[in-house]
Amino acid sequence: MKSVSVLKPLTIKGKKIRVPIIQGGMGVGVSLHPLAKAVALEGGLGIVSSACIDRLVSKRTGKKVNTYEAAYEEVSLSKIKGGFTGINIMMALVRDFVDSVKGALDAGVDVIISGAGLPLNLPAVQPPKDTALIPIVSSARALDIICKKWEKLGYRPDAVVLEGPLAGGHLGFRIDQIDLESNKLENLLPPVKDMAVKCGDFPVIVAGGIYTHSDITKFISMGADGVQMGTRFLATEESSATETYKQAVVRAKDEDIVVAHRPGSPCGLPFRVIRQSPMYVSSLQRKRTPKCDKGYVLMKDAEGKFTICPAKEDNENYFCICNGLLSSSGYNPEKEEALYTVGSNASRVDKIISVKTLMDELTGKAG
Ligand SMILES: Cc1cc2nc3c(=O)[nH]c(=O)nc-3n(C[C@H](O)[C@H](O)[C@H](O)COP(=O)(O)O)c2cc1C
Ligand code: SF4
Repeated sequence: MKSVSVLKPLTIKGKKIRVPIIQGGMGVGVSLHPLAKAVALEGGLGIVSSACIDRLVSKRTGKKVNTYEAAYEEVSLSKIKGGFTGINIMMALVRDFVDSVKGALDAGVDVIISGAGLPLNLPAVQPPKDTALIPIVSSARALDIICKKWEKLGYRPDAVVLEGPLAGGHLGFRIDQIDLESNKLENLLPPVKDMAVKCGDFPVIVAGGIYTHSDITKFISMGADGVQMGTRFLATEESSATETYKQAVVRAKDEDIVVAHRPGSPCGLPFRVIRQSPMYVSSLQRKRTPKCDKGYVLMKDAEGKFTICPAKEDNENYFCICNGLLSSSGYNPEKEEALYTVGSNASRVDKIISVKTLMDELTGKAG
């Protein structure tokens, strides 16, 4: 017999999201408007990723656009069929942060979710009006720091995403802290929930390793208000990962999923990958000659110019994440090898399904 969903809506800044499932932002180019739109149609919150969005939209449309225009366009397209959608803007992409925020806000985005660093100045970029601002944290301490800084700016988070160490992409933990019992999502949630209550009682959304309907109900019964999921949505028909990437996810076994670190991400955070990813294999052999031609993770030098990325000259400790990830969404696969990031549960994926089928499963409507 089919069971009916028991999941309660998630309300963020007055927006009632019928299904409390957020499809996590997945850069580079994995979660674009086709995926976000499909999730929104099913009642969840669909998120586009802002990473390298100028290049991705320029290539798709054949018209050169800048970051502001690309964020505006992708957000607008994601909202076309209704429902709620948002954008994920990573702090680590410092150079394009402000333009991404402005483009998304001007397009009337429902939410901005921001992590990979603490988004301490997010509310100061431009008045967010109806847009909800949501930081991603990995600890109660990080949330405390953000709340204190945002209070000075006259703002309070509209919700928070708590991401544990089983997630895909960059991880907000030191490499030696990933396996600690105290850093399990189940153990991180109570103090973060307490902090959210203390800072003004906003929703707490948990992420990292959530895979089934019963995982969702478990965390909701522990006090979470919703979940954010990446890997399950990566493995959908609507995600913009290349077919080769999706098949690598289907093939991946438990032992194939590793946390890359030296060589690792030039953003300085541990980064989970499939160990057979062509760029990762080459980087272990230090094969790729360092070359910087994309520049998304550049930081400012002493003169205030964006010139610094550790992967520019060092292929011992870093891989060129811009090119590896752009290749894995089909931007430049003929020139650069692909790098496949996944969550720790990717080994459980055995086929690529539609967003509708996935949402029916996750909400408990099917099976
Ligand atoms: C392919 C992929 C790309 C990701 N890219 C980003 C990103 O650009 N920004 C971000 O904040 N999180 C990113 N994440 C993290 C997801 O948004 C999500 O929080 C996380 O994957 C949840 O864990 P799960 O994959 O176990 O569901 C990415 C995850 C994956 C799998
Ligand atoms: S070296 Fe590579 S990863 Fe670093 S900014 Fe340049 S293109 Fe990006």
